[in-house]
Amino acid sequence: MAMPEIKLTNLSYSYSNTGHAALHDVNLTVASGSYTAIVGHTGSGKSTLVSLIDGLLSPSAGEVQVGEVRVNSSAKRANLAKLRQHVGFVFQFPEQQLFAETVEKDIAFGPENLGWSAERVDAAVRDAMEEVGLSAELAKRSPFMLSGGQMRRVAIAGVLAMKPAVLILDEPTAGLDARSTETLLGLVDRLHQEGRTILLITHQMDQVAQYADQVVVMNHGRLVTATTPQQLFADRQLLADNHLGQPAAMKISQTLQERGIQLSPTLTLTQLASQLAAQLGGDEHNG
Ligand SMILES: Nc1ncnc2c1ncn2[C@@H]1O[C@H](COP(=O)(O)OP(=O)(O)OP(=O)(O)O)[C@@H](O)[C@H]1O
Ligand SMILES: [Mg+2]
Repeated sequence: MAMPEIKLTNLSYSYSNTGHAALHDVNLTVASGSYTAIVGHTGSGKSTLVSLIDGLLSPSAGEVQVGEVRVNSSAKRANLAKLRQHVGFVFQFPEQQLFAETVEKDIAFGPENLGWSAERVDAAVRDAMEEVGLSAELAKRSPFMLSGGQMRRVAIAGVLAMKPAVLILDEPTAGLDARSTETLLGLVDRLHQEGRTILLITHQMDQVAQYADQVVVMNHGRLVTATTPQQLFADRQLLADNHLGQPAAMKISQTLQERGIQLSPTLTLTQLASQLAAQLGGDEHNG
């Protein structure tokens, strides 16, 4: 078993302005290198949870541990800032936070704040642009002249430039067209393959089925379960209780089963296609 990268112990949080208890007694371990999806209906506490992991909020009770850094309710600001050095947080609609007059200046902002040398910042900006697939010639352009998908990649590059071990993405594909969605998910998958720990908040069950090795279900500020996508999607009651749907491949295979075609449970379209190809006498290894 890989080292625990993130460990949450009896973690609770109340927003001080409203006194609203947004998280109750959450316990969770995320292994180093995991791709963990966080799901749950609106207002269930997903964004609050990841804000605590990134040190944007400080716990009302309990503890957040990321790597060697531990933070509890009496944590100092400096300690919260230490969390942020390990964790990169891509907010929802991150392109709304772009501000600099050029792409490279925007991406350089985070590394500069870490006090890195000019050479180190330049190298980090170049690496990050390459990682997200932005061509070098865009460096001197205004980020506001780019397409929506490109702007979002600039924002993600700004987070990656700080070289975080953990990357949190809060609904990163919201509002993107199908093609940009696929590009972005491919990018996150690659970052995961390179060894980063990924936390993905999503309402898309296909994304959970295709990429996650762990899925965390939140409901009214409580962690209902942390399990595998296979286990979650096999449990209709659990899905219904938490207002969660099924991946498309699962719906299709159930419809086919109702019509008398024998299939084992499938979570992704690739798995479904392989089974159908085998049954129809096609060569499932061909293509
Ligand atoms: N800044 C805030 N001040 C007061 N209450 C807040 C604040 N942010 C969130 N809340 C409340 O805390 C609870 C959890 O909110 P949170 O944003 O974590 O949910 P979420 O699961 O991310 O929802 P969504 O899917 O809509 O993004 C909700 O009841 C919400 O109204
Ligand atoms: Mg949210």
